[in-house]
Amino acid sequence: MDPIAAFAEYEQSALAAIDAAETGDALESVRIEFLGKKKGRLRELQSVLSQVEPDQRPVVGKRFNEVRNQVSERLDRRKAQLEQPTVALTHLDVTLPGTSVNQGCLHPLTQTIEEFKDIMGRFGFSVAEGPEIEDEYHNFVALNIPEDHPARDPLENFYLSAAQTSAGGGKDGGPVLLRSQTSTVQIRVMQETQPPIRVVSVGRVYRPDTIDATHSCMFHQMEGLMVGESVTMAQLKTVLHLFARAYLGEDVGIRFRPSFFPFTEPSVEVDMQWGDNWLEIGGAGMVDPNVLTAVGYDPEQVSGFAFGLGIERFCMRRHGITDIRRFYENDLRFLRQF
Ligand code: FA5
Repeated sequence: MDPIAAFAEYEQSALAAIDAAETGDALESVRIEFLGKKKGRLRELQSVLSQVEPDQRPVVGKRFNEVRNQVSERLDRRKAQLEQPTVALTHLDVTLPGTSVNQGCLHPLTQTIEEFKDIMGRFGFSVAEGPEIEDEYHNFVALNIPEDHPARDPLENFYLSAAQTSAGGGKDGGPVLLRSQTSTVQIRVMQETQPPIRVVSVGRVYRPDTIDATHSCMFHQMEGLMVGESVTMAQLKTVLHLFARAYLGEDVGIRFRPSFFPFTEPSVEVDMQWGDNWLEIGGAGMVDPNVLTAVGYDPEQVSGFAFGLGIERFCMRRHGITDIRRFYENDLRFLRQF
C-alpha cells in the first residue's frame, strides 16, 4: 500500500470525524479510533511505515509525524471548543451586585437573655432550668403563698384544665398551670441542691394581664437566687446595681421601694429610671425563713436573697422600644434592626 496515500486517507477521515463530534464523549471515541495506542488506526499506519524502503523512510516518516500532529492538534482544539459554555457569555455583567444571602439574626429578647446569663455568669451565677407547666406546690405553696392569696385566683392564672389527671397533672394529681413567675425554679433548685447556691433562671411566664405598652400575657423573667451563710440585703442591692449598670450603662438610675412578696422578707420592688419616669423592672428580697424551711434548710444556719426581673422591660430601655408588643409581632422591619 502507498504509505503517502494511506496517510492522506487517514488524515481526511480523522479530521472529518473530529469536526463531526458534537459531544465530549463522541470526541473521545474518535480519539480512541484514530489515536488510540492499543488498537487505534495510527498503529496500522505505523506498520505501513515499517515496510517502507530505508531510503524513503526520512520523507515518509516526516509525513507520518505531520499527519499525527495535525490530527492531535485538531482534536485538542475541538475538545476546547466543546468545553466552552453553550450560553453566550457576552451578556454577563460581572459588576452587577450578586444575590445576597439573607442571614437573619437572633431575636432581640434572645440576645438579651444570652447577655443576662453572660453578665450573671461573671458574678459567679450558674444557669438553672425549670418547666413552664407547673403544679401549685412549686408555683404557690412552697413559695409561702396561702390558698386565699389573690395571686392564686384562677382568673389571675392560666390553669390547664385538661391536664388535671394523676398522669399528666401536678403533685399528687393536683391542678397544673402555666407558671406565673420564675420563682418556681428557686424551689426546684433548693430541693435538689445544698447551699451555697448562686443561680439564675431565665424563661417565659404567663399571666392573664391586660395587654398594654408595658404588659403582655406572656413575657420573660430572670430569677436570681443566692443562698449561703450570712447572705445579706446589702449583697442583693450590690448585685442588682452592678447587673443593671453592666446591661444599661453606668448612668442608669435604680431605686428600691419597700414592697411585699409572700416568699421574701423584707421585700422590695426595683425601679429603673427612664427619662423623667421610673419603670418597675423587678421584685426582690431576702428569702423568707418559711421558704427555707419548706425545702429543708435551717434558716438559723443559712440566709439568701432572690430577685425576679422583667427581661422585656430591660431590653426596651436599652433600645428605646416604647411598646412591648413589638417583640411578639414578628414584623421584620422591627426585627432587622437588631
Ligand atoms: C414577681 O414575679 C416575683 N416573682 C419577683 C420576685 C422574685 C420577688 C424573687 C422576690 C423574689 P412581679 O409580679 O412584680 O414579681 O414581676 C416581676 C417583673 O416582671 C416586673 O417588675 C416586671 O418587670 C415584669 N412583669 C410583670 N408583669 C408583667 C407583664 N404583664 N408584662 C411584662 N412584664 C411584666
